[in-house]
Amino acid sequence: MTEKSIFCGTNRPADPANMTDTEKKHTPVIECSDSVKSGDSFQVKISVGEIPHVMEEAHHVQWIDIYSGQNFNARVDLTPVFTKPEVTISLQKGGRHRTANIRVIERCNLHGQWEASKEITVTE
Ligand SMILES: [Fe+2]
Repeated sequence: MTEKSIFCGTNRPADPANMTDTEKKHTPVIECSDSVKSGDSFQVKISVGEIPHVMEEAHHVQWIDIYSGQNFNARVDLTPVFTKPEVTISLQKGGRHRTANIRVIERCNLHGQWEASKEITVTE
């Protein structure tokens, strides 16, 4: 069996409890409340990754996308000089859904796309 290319699709850690250094450097880290009130804004801090990713011309994070489930919310484009692959964004959940799945995908120019997600509860 051949090994899957990291540029084929979006990568997730094979075993989140026992990540490799490559997985630790690329898997987005999502920090926000576990529970938010419907209609209230809340902040989500995203960093790449558990081991900070380098930002050099030859090797850097190109963008960070934020989704709620399958719905696209925002993109942050990054250049390799003077940036840090970290962003804090305000989100607001309304509607009838009692949970929301915050999904983040980042792209490294050398190591492809990496995804993480966090399920939150939305209260009345
Ligand atoms: Fe990388």
